[in-house]
Amino acid sequence: MGYRIAVIGGDGIGPEVVTEALKVVKATGIDVHTSDFDLGGARYQRDGEVLSDATLDELRGFDAILLGAVGTPDVPPGVIERGLLLKLRFELDLYVNVRPFVGPGHDFVVVRENTEGPYVGEGGVLRRGTPHEVATQGSVNTRMGVERCVRFAFALANGRSRRHVTLVHKTNVLTFAGDLWQRVFDVVAAELPAVETAYHHVDAASIYFVTDPGRYEVIVTDNLFGDILTDLGGAVSGGIGLASSANLNPARTGPSMFEPVHGSAPDIVGTGTANPMAAILSAAMMLDFLGEPQAAARIRAACVGPVSGSTSFVGDEIASRVAG
Ligand code: IPM
Ligand code: MN
Repeated sequence: MGYRIAVIGGDGIGPEVVTEALKVVKATGIDVHTSDFDLGGARYQRDGEVLSDATLDELRGFDAILLGAVGTPDVPPGVIERGLLLKLRFELDLYVNVRPFVGPGHDFVVVRENTEGPYVGEGGVLRRGTPHEVATQGSVNTRMGVERCVRFAFALANGRSRRHVTLVHKTNVLTFAGDLWQRVFDVVAAELPAVETAYHHVDAASIYFVTDPGRYEVIVTDNLFGDILTDLGGAVSGGIGLASSANLNPARTGPSMFEPVHGSAPDIVGTGTANPMAAILSAAMMLDFLGEPQAAARIRAACVGPVSGSTSFVGDEIASRVAG
């Protein structure tokens, strides 16, 4: 009866790029049944729903979620990001965010921890708006959360040609969290001696991303470093318009979610200039995870040659290459 895919177009260019990604998925001939979920800034402004428990429960029943982008200048920052995107990542236990970067001179993948770090919302504010205002926002790192992410990265590296994994952190300053990450990394490394390891501080890693990305095969890092590094990864490896991602629940206790790395780009909405490639490649990651590696490989192959034109032209062109 085919795969049941929940589609959240979201805000800005999200719906535009997701339309093209679905066009390409359908061109593979894989049987997918899509259900649209009207979520994001416009929905919030209409009736106040960001993501209700009922909607969340409904989403749990799907095989995968394909998401465009969230966030709009019409709603204060954080409402949709925290209430929709991060809620999905946390509630569905999408504990790794896998972000591959492939382009001339680039072939590495960032495994970003996706449920902890400064993203959990620990902290608060006192005396807001006064000269004595205090704001704290802690980074939460659990042994379990770090370990499952690090294990995922090692397993991924073990299946790749160089078998190389780099931990990126800031152990020289973040001596509590960094120490936990380093010790867990070392324990897993000792279990898998076939995998070669390296460690870079995040500031140095951002130099190497630009000057010597060939150092990397698999990078494992925390939620916030991973967020920042993957925008940089997109920028250096062909543009953020190509950067795809998979928010995975590797235990498969629920659906995983696939989304481009880029944001909602409200400045170009409706212009037909959004590049759907990142969404299309995210859909390929979805097919891979669903157990359709051949269809996924066909999509990736179709995305190799340059295509220029409007959002829908690019989608049509890739879809026709895939349909072959
Ligand atoms: C990303 C985005 C999100 C993040 C935002 C929209 C909350 O930047 O997926 O990289 O910070 O994780
Ligand atoms: Mn980001």
